[in-house]
Amino acid sequence: MAEQQAQTDGGGVATAGGDTLTVTDNRTGQTFEVPIVDGTVRAMDFRQMKVDADDFGLMTYDPAFTNTASCRSSITYIDGEAGILEHRGIPIEQLCEHSSYLEVAYLLVHGELPTQEALDFWVYSITHHTYVHENIKKSMEAFRYDAHPMGMLLSTVGALSTYYPAAKHIDDPTERYMAIVRLIAKMPTLAAFSYRHNLGLPYVYPDNDLWYTGNFLSMLYRINEPKYEPDPRLERALDVLWILHADHEQNCSTAAVRAIGSSQVDPYSAVAGGIAALYGPLHGGANEAVLKMLERIGTVENIPDFLQGVKDRKEKLMGFGHRVYKNYDPRARIIKKHVDEVLEVMGVDNPKVAVAVELEKRALDDDYFTSRKLYPNVDFYSGLIYEAMNIPTDMFTVMFAIPRTAGWLAQWKEMLEDEETKIARPRQIYTGPRTVDYTPLGQRG
Ligand code: CMC
Repeated sequence: MAEQQAQTDGGGVATAGGDTLTVTDNRTGQTFEVPIVDGTVRAMDFRQMKVDADDFGLMTYDPAFTNTASCRSSITYIDGEAGILEHRGIPIEQLCEHSSYLEVAYLLVHGELPTQEALDFWVYSITHHTYVHENIKKSMEAFRYDAHPMGMLLSTVGALSTYYPAAKHIDDPTERYMAIVRLIAKMPTLAAFSYRHNLGLPYVYPDNDLWYTGNFLSMLYRINEPKYEPDPRLERALDVLWILHADHEQNCSTAAVRAIGSSQVDPYSAVAGGIAALYGPLHGGANEAVLKMLERIGTVENIPDFLQGVKDRKEKLMGFGHRVYKNYDPRARIIKKHVDEVLEVMGVDNPKVAVAVELEKRALDDDYFTSRKLYPNVDFYSGLIYEAMNIPTDMFTVMFAIPRTAGWLAQWKEMLEDEETKIARPRQIYTGPRTVDYTPLGQRG
């Protein structure tokens, strides 16, 4: 029986103590020793396991990547079992308490907290790139009156690449940096334009005297007052919400940005792909789906029937469950604290809040949900805050895309700087027919 040492692809070396996995291929009787590094084995180490010399070699099969690490990353740490979320090692609770969205964006992109001077320069740079070319504004105006704002955002972000053609020089650190600043700066402008478009209101230009979130509120709500003064409590609530949404490691949209970016396309196109992934109801679209669900339930009395429908698999409890968190999503805990505050500022008595609170309570008391480790996620409460701020449900995913831009770009930059990066190109298990003769059109049944 031949014993072979695995050839590793790209530097997989077993840790001290010789962590390895011994695999016997029962088809051939051969035994292989594969290094275990950081709790993982390299899929390429399995390629050498062949039935004969013509065999392609063993592959791993992992639809939806549920057990596959696609990269090494030092940006965001999640312990789903314990409900822990940290950015660059700093717990999300501390960031929400002491930091601001733009400082967290700096942290994600640069890897460390800024000095005062660095922060001032970062904030200044972002504040002074909030304007968009007038033709961008005109192309947004050309959308149908009821265009979904997320569709407007994703195509307009893609269009930005045509205004900054130098962004395709992704190996140039200055171009990379400028694209990061521009995207973070312009995202609220494009988002607010899409909101005003739906209302048939004139677009409001950015006000560079205001803080990032205050400026966004001004672009949403300003009518004809000479100067919009945002309520500092709303400004802060939005800042906290955006810190909570800034990054979440290898989720669907981030994985999309990395995969698209690995083709070495410009970052505007890669981020447009991330926005498309976020659009779906199982990802960023979930907060919109939560609101629609609460609307359908209507009153607290209808909750038992609704929960029975979920158990009968006729319904899904939107805003519950997470691929990674198998415990209370720490972001949901923080958001929940801000719901009442925002309702108070806006003077809203929203019946959906009562339904949401009772629904959460009953689901957490129910073995069906607890046995499946289904707990509220970030979207269970974020939609309620946005609704209290008079933001229409169609805009909710856009509100998610604005802050996630920092995470996408930090991950995109990290991917480009990683020596192991290659174009993303998964394998498949082919299940279709082979060597079938072409049937002329007239002979088909
Ligand atoms: N309502 C009812 N049952 C659920 C739910 C739910 N929201 N989520 C999962 N389950 C059940 C599922 O039917 C399965 O049951 P069983 O084992 O009896 O077949 C079990 O829980 C495991 O579910 P899964 O589909 O294997 O879990 P997943 O990791 O593939 O899905 C998820 C994760 C987020 C897509 C899913 O929980 C879901 O669809 N939730 C609702 C949508 C939502 O709130 N999404 C926002 C996610 S957080 C924001 C973000 O990061 O994008």
